[in-house]
Amino acid sequence: MSKVLVCFFSAGGEDLSAGQSNEVGNTAMMAKAIVNKLKEDGHDVTSFRIQPKEPYPDSYDQKLAKATEERAMQERPEYDGDVADFDDYDTVFIGFPIWCSDMPMIIYSFLEKHVFTGKIVVPFCTHGGSGEVDTFRTVAEKAVGSAPEQGLAIPGDLARQAGGDKQVSYWIDQLTI
Ligand SMILES: Cc1cc2nc3c(=O)[nH]c(=O)nc-3n(C[C@H](O)[C@H](O)[C@H](O)COP(=O)(O)O)c2cc1C
Repeated sequence: MSKVLVCFFSAGGEDLSAGQSNEVGNTAMMAKAIVNKLKEDGHDVTSFRIQPKEPYPDSYDQKLAKATEERAMQERPEYDGDVADFDDYDTVFIGFPIWCSDMPMIIYSFLEKHVFTGKIVVPFCTHGGSGEVDTFRTVAEKAVGSAPEQGLAIPGDLARQAGGDKQVSYWIDQLTI
């Protein structure tokens, strides 16, 4: 079985679709379901959470203001630590919430910091209704030399339910990894 890395960023906090504040973010919930399924299938799995050096505010409006500015300025926010022995992984899952119809800029930071040549790259995201808005193509473009696999986008509230786990399981069964 292949060696698999599951990397993700998840902000959590105030969630307008769910009308609540999430201590554990939607994308983190989805990442957990992915890791569980991959382990069940017998893969050697490591996960890495991309944690911003400067945390995002809990409030949706404040987060939106920060995300909008980062995007306008094409910033590359820094994150804590990094994946050890990145070269050793055959397959890399990359997960994020959709922010402003794009990936959060910290995902650009991560993608630009690593060499993906020869790896299978599998994107996933949660969103509030927009779907993946072409971000999976951006991941494939940024992960130069990788072989992109089919990604999965699910609504944030579904990521928090058993139905989300089922979709994750079905999707992973279709992948060639
Ligand atoms: C700053 C910001 C921008 C967002 N932009 C979009 C968007 O363009 N389209 C969309 O469907 N959802 C959008 N959302 C909703 C998130 O994608 C959704 O709530 C996601 O599940 C949050 O994941 P997390 O809990 O892992 O951070 C946005 C949320 C935030 C905080």
